[in-house]
Amino acid sequence: MNHTDTTTAPSDDRRTHMTPTRLTPLRDGPYEVTGPIELVDRDGCAIEPPATKVYLCRCGRSASKPFCDGSHARTAWKEEG
Ligand code: FES
Repeated sequence: MNHTDTTTAPSDDRRTHMTPTRLTPLRDGPYEVTGPIELVDRDGCAIEPPATKVYLCRCGRSASKPFCDGSHARTAWKEEG
């Protein structure tokens, strides 16, 4: 009797060879995201990342959400805590 589940093997294999995505909250600034990501808007439409490293707004003040446009620095936004 074979207990190998072949239905999950392809996705498990892909995961082990992918570079992990890293999301780092920068002090008083955006999230820095490196690695493979898929961005979509609220309707599920794809948003093409501008680079392999992207900065996502977390202050809510960017005019080009979801990306950071530097507004956090111009408005002296500070993270809580
Ligand atoms: S974090 Fe940079 S504009 Fe919001």
